[in-house]
Amino acid sequence: MEFETRAIHEGQNPDPTTGAVITPIYQTSTYQQEAIGEHKGYEYSRTGNPTRKALEEALASLEGGEYGLAFASGVAATMAVFNLLEGGDHLIAGDELYGGTYRLLEKVLRRSGVEVTYADVDDIDTFSKALQKKTKMIWVETPTNPLLKIIDIRKLADMAKRKDIILAVDNTFATPYFQRPLECGADVVAHSTTKYLSGHSDIIGGIAITSNERIYRQVQFYQNAAGAVPGPWDSWLVLRGIKTLAVRMREHEKNALYLAEYLERHPQIERIYYPGLPSHEQHQLAKKQMTGFGGMISVELRGGFQHVEKFVSRLRLFLLAESLGGVESLVCYPPRMTHSALSRDERIKRGIRDNLVRLSVGIENKIDLKEDLQNALS
Ligand SMILES: Cc1ncc(COP(=O)(O)O)c(C=O)c1O
Repeated sequence: MEFETRAIHEGQNPDPTTGAVITPIYQTSTYQQEAIGEHKGYEYSRTGNPTRKALEEALASLEGGEYGLAFASGVAATMAVFNLLEGGDHLIAGDELYGGTYRLLEKVLRRSGVEVTYADVDDIDTFSKALQKKTKMIWVETPTNPLLKIIDIRKLADMAKRKDIILAVDNTFATPYFQRPLECGADVVAHSTTKYLSGHSDIIGGIAITSNERIYRQVQFYQNAAGAVPGPWDSWLVLRGIKTLAVRMREHEKNALYLAEYLERHPQIERIYYPGLPSHEQHQLAKKQMTGFGGMISVELRGGFQHVEKFVSRLRLFLLAESLGGVESLVCYPPRMTHSALSRDERIKRGIRDNLVRLSVGIENKIDLKEDLQNALS
């Protein structure tokens, strides 16, 4: 079955008890047992819930993986993958990451004795240079947040396989509609389902997907043991969201490309980051690795922070808010919002300058969105 069909049907058979076409919200914490130890596969909703299971199966299928494990947030899914490591292990992370992932590495994972090295996402050789005997995992985002850099997953996967290292990819920005890291050789994919997968800015969630049974068992154990699971209602909203993922992603991309082409020529824009533009440094790699470029654009404005403040205050349709991937357009100022966990020095070192603004392009009419940007920039 093709992607669009799987998004609507996989894991979502009509309900066996009533024939309901849509997977019910099994709003229950527990399940009656016929006798001690005899049950229909569900004992307690932290361990398993049918609505959550439908979501896990559907998303695993979209990523081309065997197993999915859903979490209460993207950060919880990230932590579940990091928990494959133990004290004394070494992890190599790309040096451009969502600020919350960086905070998790620096303030939580390091405390459990895991060593972390950041490799330069612009130079894949720095990943092999960072390898140690005790390296057990490589973690990258691609496209990265917020500079939309592209990392060659296949090259990293080759390196990881040779050394028996787990390669984990945060696929939140691309979604499985545009990029499937497992098919490129990654071992685990993580998502913030808060973003494009749910698509309507109304839930917080995450998921980890793999085809490796050992990884699955370990993450599943952690999911139940640590307990950061999504409730059935939130699981259902993501499940509903992914039914339209393909349609939404096509529209996000169409709008983003149109606006990126407009912004690239605008005199108030000093620099633009959008992998769909031929001027993007890794445009060729993006074309090879992805089937589309997504709906995120970052720009550096001329005139520094003062102009950033004016720009965001004059926008009407692009709402100033954290997050991304919803049907509505958002604007974000990474230095004070998504990446505020980084000190200014760490930010600047990573290329996140004081005049950087990130746009999550929604699926409103592109002419309206262009006018909004035009007014704010004038
Ligand atoms: C790329 C990426 N990964 C993970 C996360 C964390 O997800 P959540 O906010 O759902 O915990 C985010 C959140 O912005 C993100 O942008």
